[in-house]
Amino acid sequence: LAAALARRGAGARLLGARPGSAPLDWTNLGFEARPVAAYVRYNWKGGAWDDGALQPDGNVTIHALSNALNYGQAVFEGLKALQCKDGSVALFNPRANLARLTAGCARLQMPAPPAELFLKGLERAVAANAAYVPPYGTGGALYLRPLLFGHGAQLGLGAAPEYCLMIAPNPVGAYYSGGLHGVDAIVVEDYDRAAPRGVGAVKAAGNYAPDVLPSRRAKAAGYSVCLYLDARTNTHVEEFSTSNFIGVTKDGTVVTPASPSILPSCTREVVLQAARDLGLKAEHRPVRWDEVRDLAEAAACGTAVVLTPMRSITRGSEVVRFHGFETVQRLFAHISALQAGDAPDPHGYRHVV
Ligand code: COI
Repeated sequence: LAAALARRGAGARLLGARPGSAPLDWTNLGFEARPVAAYVRYNWKGGAWDDGALQPDGNVTIHALSNALNYGQAVFEGLKALQCKDGSVALFNPRANLARLTAGCARLQMPAPPAELFLKGLERAVAANAAYVPPYGTGGALYLRPLLFGHGAQLGLGAAPEYCLMIAPNPVGAYYSGGLHGVDAIVVEDYDRAAPRGVGAVKAAGNYAPDVLPSRRAKAAGYSVCLYLDARTNTHVEEFSTSNFIGVTKDGTVVTPASPSILPSCTREVVLQAARDLGLKAEHRPVRWDEVRDLAEAAACGTAVVLTPMRSITRGSEVVRFHGFETVQRLFAHISALQAGDAPDPHGYRHVV
């Protein structure tokens, strides 16, 4: 993708409307599905991707015997485009999403989109929905949800005859209401998120449906999010329902758990880099549950949740409370500035559309 980005040039302006010109309450978007101007859809058949097309809605008609519906052959991504102070709109870190999507396609045996196609698809989605890019300074973003799935009539388990790459754009604000003030999490004791050698590291659609039940129960009990431990020993932190885990130790080190069954969060890499750039120590290593008790701060990190501080994490009868979010807030401010073009971009995250 780096070569594709270089060929495309960073400064081209393709926007089809003034960012933020759609009639929406930009400061109260939340994370809800909303109608937009256009969706982008590519189809793979007979060994090749087509040229893709824009369509006015997110509907897809597929055969009931499609692999995606029956066997869960589907992966998805999430990334954001933000309006910057100078009026431009930039995608944030699309290279990381392409790398993860490509790895997921290899595991689920689906054709990965070429870098040029993926990037062009994202640009088309942003350009056609410029009116839905929240204005600079509102804290919102145009969330882009690329999803790739196998379809076409196929009864036995095997490769699908066709694959679809759909890019669904959606203006969003905060994922968790009140998220900036901290949310309460609960450790899931009776279900595992991913087997040690399963597909936890793939952003497979099927990794998320099993969380609906524990999450519902957690919400009914007053918690915003579930935290999963490792399936084999239940002693190490894996990830939240929607995102990775980050902790800040009492000596100010930023730690994120490493495990083969954790989804490699694109935001996690940005957070670790941001920590180093801010002069903090950053470690990506297995994190024991025991250590959580001694953390100064904890947060969820992901594209949708950005950095959402934890107020508490409950495991059984034990409640671990966190009393400050200072480092998490510093990291959040740094990453928000990178996304909105308010800070230099030495790592080349921004791609202006
Ligand atoms: C994201 O953070 O972009 C995700 O895809 C997580 C999803 C559960 C909202």
